[in-house]
Amino acid sequence: MKELKEKITQAVDSIKIKTDLVPQIGLILGSGLGVLADEIVNKVSIKYSEIKGFPLSTVEGHVGAFVMGELEGKIVIAQQGRLHYYEGYPMKDITLPLRVMKALGIKVLIVTNAAGGINPEFKAGDLMIITDHINLMGHNPLIGVNDSTLGPRFPDISQIYDRGLRELAIKTAEKIGLSVRQGIYVAVSGPSYETKAELKFMHMIGGDSVGMSTAPEVIVAGHSSIPCLGISCITNCIDFISNKKLTHEEVIEVGNATVPKFSRLVKEIIKEMKI
Ligand code: HPA
Repeated sequence: MKELKEKITQAVDSIKIKTDLVPQIGLILGSGLGVLADEIVNKVSIKYSEIKGFPLSTVEGHVGAFVMGELEGKIVIAQQGRLHYYEGYPMKDITLPLRVMKALGIKVLIVTNAAGGINPEFKAGDLMIITDHINLMGHNPLIGVNDSTLGPRFPDISQIYDRGLRELAIKTAEKIGLSVRQGIYVAVSGPSYETKAELKFMHMIGGDSVGMSTAPEVIVAGHSSIPCLGISCITNCIDFISNKKLTHEEVIEVGNATVPKFSRLVKEIIKEMKI
């Protein structure tokens, strides 16, 4: 565990050489949603490749950088391009950026993802405020020796999708005339998309959206006592009848098309946040 602490310290040191900004809000930007980081002003961009000991993202559409600066009057740090379990990274590496953001000072995490819609009422292009998650990844980033200076052995994450933040997101969406969904995100390892039987199962157990990320970072946020706001961008809808094939290109395309309303919502929420 000493090793994890050393990795965090090493990364923090290499970031502090570039900037002395202390971020208040951490942003994890999902597939196709990374462009929100372009709206950060007075920014410093630090590629993962410039950070000692940092793993690199291999997925198309994932840049792999921290972008720090001002957004709507707050100091934010955006993780542009996240690491995924299906890329073969250990969970400890996937969640290292979150550990580093915590060590830099974030008080709140906004985590976003592209996800398939399981709830039959959802449409491609919808935004869903995550009320909770079901982790079906078959792994947990906290497995292994616990460093109690980072968090407790058995953290309670039953309220990690903070009620106050969810209420703020819904009120803010109403204020700007955006309709949003709410629901439970099912996390899977991927990289294959789901079988029809798996989708049926996820629907039966109460899932509303499904994707290949978010749960690891949110579990570590829970370990680190950072309240989370999660937003899924529904890029495709589960269709039990047709045999239309789902592609990564389609996911990215709908993600990109949703960016304007997604960005507007996230920026407005940040503006309204009292931290
Ligand atoms: N399944 C899993 N992950 C996803 C999907 C999906 O349908 N769409 C976007 N990410």
